[in-house]
Amino acid sequence: MIQLIRGFKDILPGEVELWQEIESIARSLFEDFGFKEIRIPIMERTELFARSIGENTDIVEKEMYTFPDRKGELLTLRPEATASVVRSYIQHKMYADNPVRKFYTIGPMFRRERPQKGRYRQFYQINAEVFGVASPYIDAQLIFMLATLFERLAVTDVKAHINSLGCPQCRPGFKAALLEYMTDRMDRLCSDCKRRSDTNPLRALDCKVPTCREAMSDAPSLLDHLCADCKAHFETVKGSLEKLHVPFEVDKRLVRGLDYYSRTTFEILTGSLGAQSAVAGGGRYDGLVRMLGGPETSAIGFAIGFDRLAEIVGLNRADLEKKPDIFIAALGEAAQELAFDWNCALDIAGIQTETDMAGRSLKSQMKQANRMNAKYVLIVGENEMATGEAVLRNMATKEQVAVPIAGLVEGIKGIFSAM
Ligand code: HAM
Repeated sequence: MIQLIRGFKDILPGEVELWQEIESIARSLFEDFGFKEIRIPIMERTELFARSIGENTDIVEKEMYTFPDRKGELLTLRPEATASVVRSYIQHKMYADNPVRKFYTIGPMFRRERPQKGRYRQFYQINAEVFGVASPYIDAQLIFMLATLFERLAVTDVKAHINSLGCPQCRPGFKAALLEYMTDRMDRLCSDCKRRSDTNPLRALDCKVPTCREAMSDAPSLLDHLCADCKAHFETVKGSLEKLHVPFEVDKRLVRGLDYYSRTTFEILTGSLGAQSAVAGGGRYDGLVRMLGGPETSAIGFAIGFDRLAEIVGLNRADLEKKPDIFIAALGEAAQELAFDWNCALDIAGIQTETDMAGRSLKSQMKQANRMNAKYVLIVGENEMATGEAVLRNMATKEQVAVPIAGLVEGIKGIFSAM
């Protein structure tokens, strides 16, 4: 038997309903905040991700699904959505008539990471991105929107961690101080951190290897190196979050795994998922639109790990799979013909109906109705045809009522609308 690829998964009926519910709550909230949906391709030129996420990140170095197409062009299954949304914003000159744009997009991403609970090679994200707003108020508003989504989904075991990564003015000074600190402790750092000390020393700040953690415990903090503008920006973000009653923690080690960030960065962490504690992450990327060939444009966004969110929301949920409203147990050819008509008419009236199309016995049809967890069974056989009344049986209470066969669909609709 052919099995699915390691790290990939099926989302089956029973679970899918939860995903749909989360998605519809997210869509309606985002649209209330003025976000418009954008749908972008699943594949892009490799260069787009390499340049925006950064050549020296884990994602680009070792996690992307990259392959040459038949003409030799290098393509990549998207590991995230931000780069594509930026590409689209620039390509369609969306900045021209109105640079302020808010987008959301929902879909699959691909990263060849080591699979474990909460970590997949195809996973889904719910993304929100804002272009053209430099004000720190939008940072706070975005985090507020994210916190509201968790609240609406009754997810309580979450906390926002925030940090500022500074800007091209203040970050080089910090990098130099960090590098000096790391150089003195190079022998205690893991091979990845050693290798990255030149190109991406910030990553050593959130390295999970215990010896690195210890060696980096007194590392200089970016927050002590922020320029006046970055400092003021961060103060306003914090003050606004307080005003909005969004609980948060300043986490000076939060550096994120993608290179395009500047100033505000944040993650939503949960205690419900074991090692994979980040259920959402995001931040400002003021330089990215320009870097990819567009005009100077402020931008900020986040992505929620949909799989992780569904896992948390699903912890307290029973099976959500919808049950049929009615199973029609029809006996004999004439009854089956009627059942087929009723089935179609009731389905389009919003009363989800199933019927047996194989001409089986009443006993096996009742068994099938039970297996499907049908709420009602409508029985119509020769006797019922003769008396002109079908029997509607409530499977939970076992109560039965007669429903005239003439005008049956209207009769059932009446019964259901009276419930
Ligand atoms: P990220 O932190 O790489 O950010 O991913 C965001 C979220 O996606 C993570 O917090 C996690 O919940 C989920 N996630 C990431 N990798 C996996 C995986 N292998 N399996 C399951 N879930 C995963 C970004 O992707 C940025 N583009 C976010 C952003 C948007 N920044 C600005 N705008």
